[in-house]
Amino acid sequence: MGIDFKGKVAIVTGAGAGLGRCHAIELAKLGAKVVVNDLGSAVDGSGGSSAAAQAVVEEIKKAGGEAIANGASVADRRGAETIVEDAVKAFGTVDILVNNAGILRDKSFVKGTLDDFELVTNVHLLGSVYVTKAAWPIMNDKGYGRIVMTTSSSGLYGNFGQANYGAAKMALVGLMNTLKLEGERKNVRVNAIAPIAATRMTENLGIPEEFFKKLKPELVTPAVLFLCSEQAPTGLIVEAGAGHYSKVALLEAKGAKLGDNVTVDDIAGAIDRICDMTGAQEFRQGGEASMKIFSA
Ligand SMILES: NC(=O)c1ccc[n+]([C@@H]2O[C@H](COP(=O)([O-])OP(=O)(O)OC[C@H]3O[C@@H](n4cnc5c(N)ncnc54)[C@H](O)[C@@H]3O)[C@@H](O)[C@H]2O)c1
Repeated sequence: MGIDFKGKVAIVTGAGAGLGRCHAIELAKLGAKVVVNDLGSAVDGSGGSSAAAQAVVEEIKKAGGEAIANGASVADRRGAETIVEDAVKAFGTVDILVNNAGILRDKSFVKGTLDDFELVTNVHLLGSVYVTKAAWPIMNDKGYGRIVMTTSSSGLYGNFGQANYGAAKMALVGLMNTLKLEGERKNVRVNAIAPIAATRMTENLGIPEEFFKKLKPELVTPAVLFLCSEQAPTGLIVEAGAGHYSKVALLEAKGAKLGDNVTVDDIAGAIDRICDMTGAQEFRQGGEASMKIFSA
């Protein structure tokens, strides 16, 4: 028997289009009752209408699934609370949350405005924080929860023109890293997806047509579904695109112990050893990295 979501209640934010739509439809197909949230905005976050969320709800219902629409902005504290409230009102609880809603305001750091920086951070980072904060007590109280953060290679590695977006997307990894620890005892697992998909968000990036057509959102969704399942690990980042899936991790080099009196020239002399990634380690929490420096 394969993985299913029968009896589970799922929220997918930004599910009126692109990846979120696909996640919502597949969760519903596999038995979840789904709250389809979407502000219905343009890629740059302007405008809004609940029509996008409603259309996906109709699609799910037509296929025999259960879903309701919510048109709130995740970046609005009260709006974010209504997403979870609607799930509880309609379906009694929330088991799964996919924080997916997102916008772009791409510009080089020199040309970008702080207003754009704040807006992008509000939607991606604080939007995920607000909805997660509303769902967190419910999941902790009942001893079950699966949360997926949507990060990006732009945050994990950088991308020219995306300082605001990259900062917000990497901050979601920081959020996941602590929530995975705080949720562990209550069976609340928190993971992240780094998708690569052909959506309206990526259609003007100049990706060559032959690659673009292979980047089907439907090929990201199975990895998200796994992270939403009972079998989900916790604290895992999965990059997914065009049918290729890989773990992404932060690693720390063994490093070099240079003693009690260290000069800038000592650092310069040891920089190759400091940066040598042979035998690099992955840590589960910050304290482990602190302990390493004393055991070296
Ligand atoms: N497509 C990719 O290759 C890619 C790569 C890395 C990360 N991502 C991330 O994946 C997620 C989905 O992106 P997509 O490519 O499907 O884009 P998309 O533009 O097709 O979908 C994003 C959806 O989020 C909604 N939205 C925007 N602001 C909102 C808000 N404040 N509240 C609620 N809904 C809001 C939009 O209306 C839209 O329907 C985003 O977080 C994006 O940053 C996408």
